[in-house]
Amino acid sequence: MRPYRFETTPVLVAGAGSVHALAPELLARGAASVLVVTDPGLMAAGLVMPIVERCRSAGLTLSVFSEVAADPPEAVALAAANAARASGADTVIGLGGGSAMDTAKLAALLAGTPQALEAIYGIGQAKGPRLRLVQVPTTAGTGSEVTPIAIVTTASHEKKGVVSPLLLADLAVLDADLTLGLPAAVTAATAIDAMVHAIEAYTSRHKKNPISDALAEQALRLLFSNLPRALADGQNRTARGALLEGAMLAGMAFANAPVAAVHALAYPLGGHFHVPHGLSNALVLAPVLRFNLSAAIPEYAALGRLLDPTLHTADDSAAAEAFVAMMSQLVSTMPFAQRLADVGVTSNDLEMLAHDAMAVQRLLINNPKDVTFEDALEIYRSVA
Ligand SMILES: NC(=O)c1ccc[n+]([C@@H]2O[C@H](COP(=O)([O-])OP(=O)(O)OC[C@H]3O[C@@H](n4cnc5c(N)ncnc54)[C@H](O)[C@@H]3O)[C@@H](O)[C@H]2O)c1
Ligand SMILES: [Fe+2]
Repeated sequence: MRPYRFETTPVLVAGAGSVHALAPELLARGAASVLVVTDPGLMAAGLVMPIVERCRSAGLTLSVFSEVAADPPEAVALAAANAARASGADTVIGLGGGSAMDTAKLAALLAGTPQALEAIYGIGQAKGPRLRLVQVPTTAGTGSEVTPIAIVTTASHEKKGVVSPLLLADLAVLDADLTLGLPAAVTAATAIDAMVHAIEAYTSRHKKNPISDALAEQALRLLFSNLPRALADGQNRTARGALLEGAMLAGMAFANAPVAAVHALAYPLGGHFHVPHGLSNALVLAPVLRFNLSAAIPEYAALGRLLDPTLHTADDSAAAEAFVAMMSQLVSTMPFAQRLADVGVTSNDLEMLAHDAMAVQRLLINNPKDVTFEDALEIYRSVA
């Protein structure tokens, strides 16, 4: 048996309407004063105040920090931590997509133990204790509710991660009804992000293990078959539930078997061009899979057979190629930009992107195949 380590969020409450369990769960844990960390889009969608009011009626004191921005800048994380301190919160709830949940993680951490944000970038640098942390995802994408990772954007447009077991929530509440109003483009981009988490965990070079493999397989199965259903009918609660569950399972997988070149090449697109995280992954997904193919034939073949059982009669090479073709085909039908030029990137920017991608060694070391500067440049060129 190969040695491995597996960690996840200790308690999950899942199911349609499970957000109603929030107040009793908080009270049972001794919470009294709670800060909800969310963004203006969630406020406008009317998702926040009903939850806040329900918690207030149960006797909890609630404050709301609603200034989270996409790909949260450092200043937003610091402002959220100040809001937690100022309100005397003992508990922080992240309510939203990855941006709100990641900001909530840092607010709970920095309000619990003062530390400079720059000092805790990287793996295992954070000190605790932190405030109680509860996550309620409203996108089916990042899986941040079950990952020990928070990603922020620095003043120099770099996306940096804080990775620490302290960032694993105490509780995650998964209620797919909160995702029914997600616009199609966000549904598509966030689901592709989750699929990439599953795929990259499955081929992760060092920490892939039997649990992350099983989670990644089930995640990809759920996400791949239900994304078209959710796009055809956003109110399809079965499909929405499957996407939320798939994103969570993929999060559990990549939290323990980290992501690789797709994410490393996606980050500079988010940092410099504010391309939403899922879309930036989708833009480079097909060429990175093609690049990796020769080094990941057994894994891609297994994933291909999972999505198309007729591939059980094909040999590994054919099944692996079919998998890359299936994923490329899926991305090409999505309701969002397909080329870098469509998101404001010009040919003059490609070297800078490749340079920045090479700095994401934390992730590149997990790729099944080594990536050089020229490789990265060629991948960007192929989707320019
Ligand atoms: N912590 C992790 O493990 C991890 C993993 C992957 C990505 N990330 C980070 O997460 C961030 C991206 O998160 P995301 O993709 O979930 O997007 P997001 O949180 O930035 O949200 C995208 C948009 O969708 C809106 N929205 C969210 N839920 C909605 C709903 N139910 N109805 C209507 N609108 C809704 C938001 O208001 C926002 O405008 C990036 O910063 C990325 O780097 C973190
Ligand atoms: Fe991601």
